[in-house]
Amino acid sequence: MTFPLFPEQASLGAREVDYVMLWLIGISCFFLLVTAGPIAFFCFRYRRGNQVNRVHIRKGALALEFTWTIIPIFVALGLFGLGASAYFRQRHPPEEAMELHVVGKQWMWKIQHPEGKREINELHLPEGVAVKLLMTSEDVIHSFFVPSFRVKQDVLPGRYTTIWMVPSKPGSYHLFCAEFCGTSHSRMIGRVTIMPRAEYQAWLLTGEQGESPVAAGARLFRELGCTGCHVGSPAVHAPNLNGLFGSVVPLEGGTTTLADERYLRDSIMLPNLQIVHGYEALMPSYQGKVSEEELMAVITYLKTLGSGKRGERIGGPGSAGAVEAGGEAARVQPLHLDMRTPAPAVVQPDGAPAAGGPAKGGTPP
Ligand code: CUA
Repeated sequence: MTFPLFPEQASLGAREVDYVMLWLIGISCFFLLVTAGPIAFFCFRYRRGNQVNRVHIRKGALALEFTWTIIPIFVALGLFGLGASAYFRQRHPPEEAMELHVVGKQWMWKIQHPEGKREINELHLPEGVAVKLLMTSEDVIHSFFVPSFRVKQDVLPGRYTTIWMVPSKPGSYHLFCAEFCGTSHSRMIGRVTIMPRAEYQAWLLTGEQGESPVAAGARLFRELGCTGCHVGSPAVHAPNLNGLFGSVVPLEGGTTTLADERYLRDSIMLPNLQIVHGYEALMPSYQGKVSEEELMAVITYLKTLGSGKRGERIGGPGSAGAVEAGGEAARVQPLHLDMRTPAPAVVQPDGAPAAGGPAKGGTPP
């Protein structure tokens, strides 16, 4: 059920959050009454000059003290349990969740769908599908807040944060930035539109069709010269990236780390932070050479390597990724300025099949 004064519930998890909230408010009100009520009563009854019995003042009441200690402990633990279970559900997106990319920037929300479609300050979502948002910021801290989904998450520069939800009710809802982020913070707002699945599919095909993040990532992976070292070249010794995402990576110094989005990001932007065991710190930093969107695309592509989730677009006959690469090459060209000579371009034809593994099998040698 929905509650008066609460925003509409537009996601499956919203009700759970509302119940936690109502319990908190209810229990707080109850304890406010049972403490403030007697205080007011005693103040009045034992006020100066009032004729009341003040002799047998009771000292100590063990049973009473145990009661008012133990009952609230269980009440507090119960609330903790309710809150924790809702929190854990909100923190752990299901594997199959559809992943959208969100980049916050003074003062707008830039969003990209897995098929490639982009939008600004608008977010269209299909009803009944688990959606995960991978978010980062280009400048300062923002906060992605959709009250009707009951989700709010800070969006930080240099880091990835995620939230997920299952939109459950077609309609239009508010999207806010909930972190003061400068002059036009209050105008960093948008609109979330939930549509039935078929409508969403149709909507995806309207307007400009961008390159999908996986295809863009595969293209950038070649254009930025990553293939030069990471794709089985005998000349350079660099870790193989197949099946890397989600694995545990042994590091120099004997520690290990989980290869999640954070790790991939750091490895590209701050390559000397965590050196893979048995390798040298040879990788150049790509700081300032890729935009946040491009970086997310590369990471999305790396996630598909060896995971069985290979992108449909790049795996298509004739390697669609390669075709798209030609068209957009000009935009990314300047990035090559600080790259290792033209070597990547030369290595690419040989390296490419190995980079994509089976998916790129169609690429002519
Ligand atoms: Cu972005 Cu406030």
